[in-house]
Amino acid sequence: MGLEIGNPLVVASCGLTKSADAVRRCADAGAGAVVLKSLFEEQVVGEMKEQKQYATAAWHPEALDYIDRMGIDLGPREYLAVIREAKKAVSIPVIASLNCVSSAVWTSYAKSLAGEGADAIELNLAVMPSDPKRTAGEIERMYFDVLAEVTSKVDVPVAVKIGPYFTSIARLALELSRGGAAALVLFNRFYRIDVDIDRIELSPGIALSEPAEIHLPLRWISLLSGRVECDLAASTGIHDARGVVKMLLAGATVTQLCSTLYRNGLESIGRIRDELSAWMDGHGFESVEAMRGALSSMKSADPELYERIQYIKALVGVE
Ligand SMILES: Cc1cc2nc3c(=O)[nH]c(=O)nc-3n(C[C@H](O)[C@H](O)[C@H](O)COP(=O)(O)O)c2cc1C
Repeated sequence: MGLEIGNPLVVASCGLTKSADAVRRCADAGAGAVVLKSLFEEQVVGEMKEQKQYATAAWHPEALDYIDRMGIDLGPREYLAVIREAKKAVSIPVIASLNCVSSAVWTSYAKSLAGEGADAIELNLAVMPSDPKRTAGEIERMYFDVLAEVTSKVDVPVAVKIGPYFTSIARLALELSRGGAAALVLFNRFYRIDVDIDRIELSPGIALSEPAEIHLPLRWISLLSGRVECDLAASTGIHDARGVVKMLLAGATVTQLCSTLYRNGLESIGRIRDELSAWMDGHGFESVEAMRGALSSMKSADPELYERIQYIKALVGVE
């Protein structure tokens, strides 16, 4: 994205980056960059407050977190103040995040975020495709339209954070990169639904990820590295330095951390950074650049067979 960072550990958009103080704590703990908590469409937030039961069924964890944990309406004006103050407080890149539902609402606002000094904008494009009348093509078009609108209005780099639920992620990723995305964040982890069988009602699933969830983004980072025309930020299931190493070898430009920081505290950023350095020393890598993509499918001797070979190896190991 053209941003200068001291290390590839980025604090993902979440409650840990919701204020200037929080951002300062992330920087003090050693983060390479932070993505601010997403700003959600006020109208949606208002609706969700009134219809929380509906909201738990249909929306994403971050929106609920926004309402429940922040307990306030951090409106667009307050969000601009967070950017302004965070930029004064730290020297690492501060990336603003917008949860876009429709291009009309947010695109002009993106300009103000950049105007306040956000180093980049991450579009958190989280659409629940639950309307049977909308085709896959229509939903994807919405992603391209929002991106095109935003990139036409701002001169800072724009990243797009998506979920994994597309028929052709490779095609979508390529088109987003050609459509002006400076980076793709793979993947967002959406709200999981559960049922409380004692109260017989819908309940929130577990908000934090498990380390085993790394494999889905790992696959796509390794498959897309070198094939799309933008950077790749890995998100979901990265809980330790091993996860960071895996993602960098697969081809991630940076790694985003969230659940592990909720579980183990911000001080784990320093630990992960030290363990990453120790691993690099132990394996003869002088820089993160040298590691990046060493195991991506593009670097494989036979990219066509890459996945098939991994699959066969996995089966041989089990059977
Ligand atoms: C409590 C909580 C709040 C979150 N809020 C946001 C948000 O506002 N915007 C966003 O793009 N992602 C949000 N996320 C998703 C994270 O940024 C991240 O993509 C996801 O948790 C997967 O990464 P992990 O396995 O490191 O947790 C949130 C996650 C959690 C757990």
